[in-house]
Amino acid sequence: MLRFTTLAIAAFLWQGAACAGAEQSSIDPSHDYHSLSNPQSLKVEHLELALDVDFDARRLSGTVDLRVRRLEPGARELILDTRDLVIRQAWLVNGPNFLVPTGFRLGDRDSILGRALVIDVPSEPNTFVVRISYQTDPAATALQWLAPAQTAGKQHPFLFSQSQAIQARSWIPLQDTPQVRATYRATIHTPPGLRAVMGAASEPGAARGRKYEFEMTRAIPSYLMALAVGDLDFRRLGARTGVYAEPVIADAAANEFADTESMLETCEQLFGPYRWDRYDLLILPPSFPFGGMENPRLSFITPTVIAGDRSLVALIAHELAHSWSGNLVTNATWRDFWLNEGFTVFLERRIMEALYGQRRRDMEDVLGLQSLQADLATLEPHDQVLAIDLRGRDPDEGVTEVAYEKGYLFLEYLESRVGRERFETFLREYFDRYAFQSVTTEEFVAYLQEHLLDTAPAVVSAAALDAWLHAPGLPADAVLPQSDVFDQVDAQKQAWLTGTRPAGELDTSAWTTQEWLHFLDNLPQHLSAPQMSELDAAFHFTQAGNSEIAHSWLRVAIRNRYQPALPRLESYLTSIGRRKLIKPLYEDLMKSKWGAIEARRIYALARPGYHPIAVTTLDAIVLPPRPAATRSAT
Ligand code: BES
Ligand code: ZN
Repeated sequence: MLRFTTLAIAAFLWQGAACAGAEQSSIDPSHDYHSLSNPQSLKVEHLELALDVDFDARRLSGTVDLRVRRLEPGARELILDTRDLVIRQAWLVNGPNFLVPTGFRLGDRDSILGRALVIDVPSEPNTFVVRISYQTDPAATALQWLAPAQTAGKQHPFLFSQSQAIQARSWIPLQDTPQVRATYRATIHTPPGLRAVMGAASEPGAARGRKYEFEMTRAIPSYLMALAVGDLDFRRLGARTGVYAEPVIADAAANEFADTESMLETCEQLFGPYRWDRYDLLILPPSFPFGGMENPRLSFITPTVIAGDRSLVALIAHELAHSWSGNLVTNATWRDFWLNEGFTVFLERRIMEALYGQRRRDMEDVLGLQSLQADLATLEPHDQVLAIDLRGRDPDEGVTEVAYEKGYLFLEYLESRVGRERFETFLREYFDRYAFQSVTTEEFVAYLQEHLLDTAPAVVSAAALDAWLHAPGLPADAVLPQSDVFDQVDAQKQAWLTGTRPAGELDTSAWTTQEWLHFLDNLPQHLSAPQMSELDAAFHFTQAGNSEIAHSWLRVAIRNRYQPALPRLESYLTSIGRRKLIKPLYEDLMKSKWGAIEARRIYALARPGYHPIAVTTLDAIVLPPRPAATRSAT
């Protein structure tokens, strides 16, 4: 216990130092600074949604019933999070047909948090139901409404939600904090011919209709609320797994993700039972701003991982692994985001090793480390820590490789100190102990101390633990991954760079996507025009169909102003909206004068097709800064 206290004080000092400039007071680790709601007094434990999907007006419209449990005697105000919602009416539901109108008001708008919705409630009983009638704004940040032209099939419109981190409040008025979990039921009305899906159970094999019903009986945090509507087919993958996709890509998707069932079984063997019954994938149109999103029972997946050779399926392992780390044991606040992502990368790499072998795992590990090092080179020291202070900022700013790859290396470090078997047992017990709960960094560290470190004294010093959690950069005793395969790639690359061998004669016939990525990502900053042409002629990078390889090549092309790749750059940026793949390209372009002109030209074409989340990120990179006065007013 003494050690834990020392750590807590150290944490306080680090955070204090980090925030000295911003004059912030000391942080309360158990407080979610990204919600205006009051779950300590009145807690929502169940939702019933009834929503109409209107593609013409780009609105969801309907009601939500919130079942509320009282924790503070006498509390009279239920406070919810909202952003850009039109609230039409609020009632107390005193019986099946007994609605009593009640007062409500919206607070001032905060540019990051949105507006509090305060609803008058009676001082008793201990549980009661509030109904809210509302509609969303066409610009709701969680929702993207796609025209038929933006889909694979080009015939029907498409809608999908993205609630993480704090966008759920833009489509449902609720307590938008991962500290609150609720079960839900939903009835979704769609236009004819389209199918609605949610991260919840639905009637198996339901025919297409205009009305879809869902039920989620396991309590989930708000950032996992998810809905999509489109022309969707279903393909079975295994006993508990399947894939929803637009008809024209359904077979390709089923083939690409054929290993999903084995991944599920592998993860269960390692980390305990899968507690969500089914695991399905939903393949979204290319504007989906992320690689994947771990919505429970139904991960949302970018189509850019359909490479044709199953080489990018680590993403599926990752989203599936969140069924344990994230969806079952959940970060309590966005400061603790590394508990979701660092753990999930750890599980993901274990699945990859079990299914595809050590060699593949090593390569993924090294590529991850290289991305981490690239991020560390640009991040401020106070943003290089695991428990990151995001007060006053969009939690999106915490989505860096620090949470993912540094978090992962921390767990790798712990495993290396106690051995694989003990660490696996520890993780399984941790998932059991905190199943369906949220956890702060401090709670995790206390559990770690008691259940792992105290039982093996001296394997991890207090100073080492402290450095991992609260110091910037990577601790000197980190166990860094290494790949023999990549050493061979480096040898080939050197042979070419030193002129020993022309590109066309390099021994690349057995290279997989990971070898190509390592090759491209580690080329020298500057290559001559003849070198660029030689590479392209030998390997046809400009025409690469693999979205990751194309991305790595386009970065090289931008750096070296390789003109023949520019039309491909434009088609890439106007057809893909996955932020991780497009943001670096815009950033690279903005580094030069010609590039900035090109970036602005292409962005003007691409922006209308991007998701609101990508637009927010890219506006800040590509558009000229607005005058300070205008910025703070919006
Ligand atoms: N949960 C994240 C996506 C996310 C994080 C959305 C924060 C919004 C805010 C998801 O599990 C994820 O990590 N996706 C990665 C893929 C992964 C293989 C690293 C992505 O989208 O790139
Ligand atoms: Zn993740």
